[in-house]
Amino acid sequence: MTSDTQLHSYAFPKGFAWGAATAAYQIEGGWDADGKGPNVWDTFTHQGGDRVFKNQTGDVACGSYTLWEEDLKCIKQLGLTHYRFSLSWSRLLPDGTTGFINQKGIDYYNKVIDDLIANGIMPMVTLYHFDMPQAVEDQGGWRSEKVVAIFDKYAEFCFGTFGNRVKLWITINEPFIVATYGYEKGLFAPGIKEPGIGAYQAAHNMIKAHAKAWHTYHSQFKEKQCGFVSIALNSDWAEPLDPTSVADEKATERHLAFIFGWFAKPIFIDGDYPALMKSQIAAKSKAQGFPSSRLPEFKEEETKMIMGTADFFCLNYYTSRKIKHKAYAQDEPSLKADEEVEEVMDPSWPISGIEWLAVVPWGIRKLLKYIKDTCNDPIIYITENGFAQSDPAPLEDTLRWEYFRQTLLEILKGICLDKVNIKGYFAWSLLDNFEWIEGYSKRFGLFHVDFDSPDLLRTPYTSASEYAKVVTSNRLPEPDEMQR
Ligand code: BGC
Repeated sequence: MTSDTQLHSYAFPKGFAWGAATAAYQIEGGWDADGKGPNVWDTFTHQGGDRVFKNQTGDVACGSYTLWEEDLKCIKQLGLTHYRFSLSWSRLLPDGTTGFINQKGIDYYNKVIDDLIANGIMPMVTLYHFDMPQAVEDQGGWRSEKVVAIFDKYAEFCFGTFGNRVKLWITINEPFIVATYGYEKGLFAPGIKEPGIGAYQAAHNMIKAHAKAWHTYHSQFKEKQCGFVSIALNSDWAEPLDPTSVADEKATERHLAFIFGWFAKPIFIDGDYPALMKSQIAAKSKAQGFPSSRLPEFKEEETKMIMGTADFFCLNYYTSRKIKHKAYAQDEPSLKADEEVEEVMDPSWPISGIEWLAVVPWGIRKLLKYIKDTCNDPIIYITENGFAQSDPAPLEDTLRWEYFRQTLLEILKGICLDKVNIKGYFAWSLLDNFEWIEGYSKRFGLFHVDFDSPDLLRTPYTSASEYAKVVTSNRLPEPDEMQR
């Protein structure tokens, strides 16, 4: 148990947003129901090839497309003030464009939004959470400049259709993961392996697409709808492996530039990539005989268009890393070689049920302070944070709840001691769901889902009942209450 004498109060600020998050492909199922078009994850999972655990798919997932009312019960049981979910682009626009609009898709999300609002729960809506319509991918997806206008049209359609009720918008979830897993390592859909090239192109277009959609909202909808638009950025916290090594310290700076600054700097600061990224990639590209840097450049008018295009900061935090300087062979372009780092997990950190997720609650406090200091002290929502259990997972997940509690304590310290402007917290996830390449083998839910039962039964874990207590009291239990 961690007690903390520095904190005078365990209460969160009045009006703090308490939420849980999900994503369309991970929960909805109904992959071809009622006119939905295929997306890249449908294609990727249907191709098999053992890229996903046991070749599992999101075809059924938690069945939320038909079982939304069961999800709503879970949300209400937690007492949440907010619920974050994503729209399936190809459920609304089967080929990605407004050429054909699927009314059944609109009806589904209208119901979700209306039910939330009728129950006093504020929706936070993500436009894109990894599930690009296949028809858009076929035109080059995020690697093609064309996507900027296509995404903007989709965003405009969503603002126009749902914006009278949705006030918190996220354009893109985790562009870092989309770029690196989708286009560098090829581990996620669309499964493209173009190391040192594809990720930079995809990221470049995602940043422009986000910025354009933000402008569309602000020029056409903001005045009437009075909402806010941002992008959800994931980042680990990072510290030098050897704190006395200047090389490791510099490597850590580079790592934060490559994982966090890549998106945060253009969007929150000045419309351009971190200088450290630009110089590293330019030098490596030159040595490899490329005619110009593999990192695309923003034109002057693009820089102006991009800077300042977020009304709040959305952070997805899961873990931290120790960073070591590492030189790579010159001839193979890759992100890691550009960055010249090696990521290490401190052996003292407990590992959750998923191998990459070392439990480092204090990392979030440091990262939040870093965001305050480097991004002009923005309003911050933690839009994802969670801990996986491996399947089969016990319903009494007391250790997992302890991780949640420790993380919330660090967030509270961030608010009270570091004066970071944190307005809300969304646990990942409401339900156990399709955990991308891990399929259903890793369980992130506050509610257990029985994927073998015909009605996909939802049952609360201990973490759900403990989280509900925090949500309804708007405070963490004090150390002496916990000893009772
Ligand atoms: C994603 C979620 C995912 C979670 C846990 C985040 O990268 O936004 O979709 O399930 O992490 O891996």
